[in-house]
Amino acid sequence: MAPRLLRVSLRCGFALFVLVLFQTNALDVEVKDDDNVTCLFAQWKMNISIKYETEGNEYKNVAFMLPTEVRYDGSTCGNETYGPILALEFEEGHSWVISFTKTSNTYQGIISFTYNTNDTKLFPDAKRKGPITIAVKYPVQPVKLYTVFSCHDMESVESDNITQEIWNVTLQTFLEDGSLSSKKTICDIDTMPTTTTTTTTTSTTTTTQVTTNTTTVPTTTTVTFPPLPTLQPIERPATGSYSLTNNTVVCLLATMALQLNISQKVPLVINYNPNTTVASGSCGSSVSVLTLTDGSCRVEFVFAVKNTSAETFFLREVNITIIESRNATLSAANRSLNYWEASLGSSYMCQKEETLIVTPGYKMNIFDLKIQPFDVKDNQYAAAEDCSPDVDNFFVPIVVGAALAGLILLVLMAYFFGRKTRHYVGYEQF
Ligand SMILES: *[C@@H]1O[C@H](CO)[C@@H](O)[C@H](O)[C@H]1NC(C)=O
Ligand SMILES: *[C@@H]1O[C@H](CO)[C@@H](O)[C@H](O)[C@H]1NC(C)=O
Ligand SMILES: *[C@@H]1O[C@H](CO)[C@@H](O)[C@H](O)[C@H]1NC(C)=O
Ligand SMILES: *[C@@H]1O[C@H](CO)[C@@H](O)[C@H](O)[C@H]1NC(C)=O
Ligand SMILES: *[C@@H]1O[C@H](CO)[C@@H](O)[C@H](O)[C@H]1NC(C)=O
Ligand SMILES: *[C@@H]1O[C@H](CO)[C@@H](O)[C@H](O)[C@H]1NC(C)=O
Ligand SMILES: *[C@@H]1O[C@H](CO)[C@@H](O)[C@H](O)[C@H]1NC(C)=O
Ligand SMILES: *[C@@H]1O[C@H](CO)[C@@H](O)[C@H](O)[C@H]1NC(C)=O
Ligand SMILES: *[C@@H]1O[C@H](CO)[C@@H](O)[C@H](O)[C@H]1NC(C)=O
Ligand SMILES: *[C@@H]1O[C@H](CO)[C@@H](O)[C@H](O)[C@H]1NC(C)=O
Ligand SMILES: *[C@@H]1O[C@H](CO)[C@@H](O)[C@H](O)[C@H]1NC(C)=O
Repeated sequence: MAPRLLRVSLRCGFALFVLVLFQTNALDVEVKDDDNVTCLFAQWKMNISIKYETEGNEYKNVAFMLPTEVRYDGSTCGNETYGPILALEFEEGHSWVISFTKTSNTYQGIISFTYNTNDTKLFPDAKRKGPITIAVKYPVQPVKLYTVFSCHDMESVESDNITQEIWNVTLQTFLEDGSLSSKKTICDIDTMPTTTTTTTTTSTTTTTQVTTNTTTVPTTTTVTFPPLPTLQPIERPATGSYSLTNNTVVCLLATMALQLNISQKVPLVINYNPNTTVASGSCGSSVSVLTLTDGSCRVEFVFAVKNTSAETFFLREVNITIIESRNATLSAANRSLNYWEASLGSSYMCQKEETLIVTPGYKMNIFDLKIQPFDVKDNQYAAAEDCSPDVDNFFVPIVVGAALAGLILLVLMAYFFGRKTRHYVGYEQF
C-alpha cells in the first residue's frame, strides 16, 4: 500500500514515481508520479479460473476473485525502455502483473500471471507443486494512444490452463497531462450485436462449440484475435512564438509547432508544449543559435550565413537532447544540414508540415514555421520567403505573361490607330 518510488520519464520534464490507491473486490487503481500526475488508470472486474491436475490424475477447476489483501510492490510508471507496470501480489506466492508498452500510435498490456500450486488453500491436491507463469496480451488488440479503453461485456482471456474473465473495464495508460482522455476505444465485443457473436461462435466448427459448452461458462464470449484497428495520427503540436534579445533589442524571431520523432530505442513522439518551452541562445552577425527547452527536451538550432555571393542564411546544425533520467540521455546532432534557406534581411516561412531529418533515428516535424535569425528590425518579421514553390514559380510567369499580352495589345492598337490617323491627316493635306 505504501507508495513506491521510481525515477523515470516518458515525456519532457517529468520524473515519475508511483502512488497506488486501492479498493476491495474489483481492481480500481491509479498509478501516479511525484507531481500527482497519473500514468496509469485501471478499473476492472476479474475472475480467474485455473485448471490443474490432481494427485489422482484428474483435472480440477479452481475459480477465484482477486482477494482484498493485495500488495503492489513492483508497480511503476516505467522508464524510456519500459512502460507503466501494475503489479499485484497476493496470498502465498501468486502474482498478477500487467506491463504496458506503446508504439507511436497504440498501447497494449501483457498480463503475466504466476500461480503457485504450493498454496494448499487453492490447490489442496495438486500433483505438481510450484509456481507456474502464463502470459497473455490484454487488451487483445492494441488501443489507440490517448484514448480510454472501455469494455463492459465479459471477455474470456485464455492462455494454457487459465481463463481470466474480465469485465467492466476502464483503462488508460500513457496519459496526457495525467488526465483521462475524453476519447474512448470501445472493445469489439461491446460494439458487436449479440446475434453476430452467436453466429461467429457457431460458424467456426460444431466440435469447438461442444467442447466450449462442457468446459467453460456457456454465457461468456471467447475472444479471438481480430485484425488491428485503423489507427489515427498523433495530435498536432501547438504553435509557439519565441524570440531572443540582444541588450533588450529583439534580434531573433521564431514561430513554430515542434514535434520530435525519435525511433532510437522505443518509438517516441514528443510534442513541444509552447506553454512550458523556454527559448535561449545568441545572435551573431554570421551565426545565430536558438535553443528551445521544454522540460528535459532540448533542441538547438544553429543558423549561419552562407559563404556565397548571394547573401543567404540557412539552418546549418541541429542538436536534439532528451534527458530521461540521471544516466539515460537520448541525443543526436548534425552539423552539416542545409534547411530553411532565405535571403539575408528577410524571414523564412513554411505553412505546411515539414519533416527535418537530423539523423536517421532523430526527426523533427515542424508546422506553421516562420523564422528570422538575422537582421530583425523593430521586433518584427521582415518580408518572408515562402517554402511553397507554388507561389514563387507560378505567380511571376502569370504577371509577366499578362503584362506582355497587354503590351502587345497596346502596340497593335497604337499601330492601327496611328495608321488611320496618319492616313486621314494625309488625305486632308492633299
Ligand atoms: C498528492 O495528492 C495527495 C492527495 O490528494 C496529497 O495528499 C499529496 O500531498 C499530493 N502530493 C503532491 C506532491 O502534490
Ligand atoms: C466470479 O467468481 C465469483 C466467485 O467464484 C462468483 O461468485 C461470480 O459469480 C463470478 N462472476 C462471474 C461474472 O463469473
Ligand atoms: C527501466 O526499467 C527497467 C525495469 O523496471 C529496469 O530494468 C531498467 O534498468 C530501467 N532503465 C533505466 C534507464 O532506468
Ligand atoms: C495444462 O493442462 C494440460 C492438461 O490439460 C497439461 O498437460 C499442461 O501441462 C498444463 N499446462 C500448464 C502450463 O500447466
Ligand atoms: C458493469 O457496469 C455497468 C454499468 O456501469 C453496471 O450496470 C453493471 O452492474 C456492472 N456489472 C457488474 C457485474 O459489476
Ligand atoms: C516517426 O518516424 C517513424 C519512422 O521513420 C515513422 O514511421 C512515423 O510515421 C513517424 N511518426 C510521426 C508522427 O512523424
Ligand atoms: C497553453 O495554455 C493555454 C492557456 O492557459 C491553454 O489554453 C492551452 O491549452 C495550453 N496549451 C497546451 C499545449 O497545453
Ligand atoms: C568564404 O569563401 C572564400 C573563398 O571561397 C574563402 O576565402 C573564405 O575563407 C570563406 N569564408 C568562410 C567564413 O568560410
Ligand atoms: C545509472 O547509474 C547508477 C549509478 O549512478 C547505476 O547504478 C545504474 O545501473 C545506472 N543505470 C543505467 C541504466 O545505466
Ligand atoms: C548536443 O548538446 C548536448 C547538450 O548541451 C551536448 O552535451 C552535446 O555535446 C551536443 N552535441 C554536439 C554534437 O554538439
Ligand atoms: C546530416 O545531414 C546530412 C544532410 O541531410 C546527411 O547527408 C548526413 O548523413 C547527416 N549526418 C548524420 C550523422 O546523420
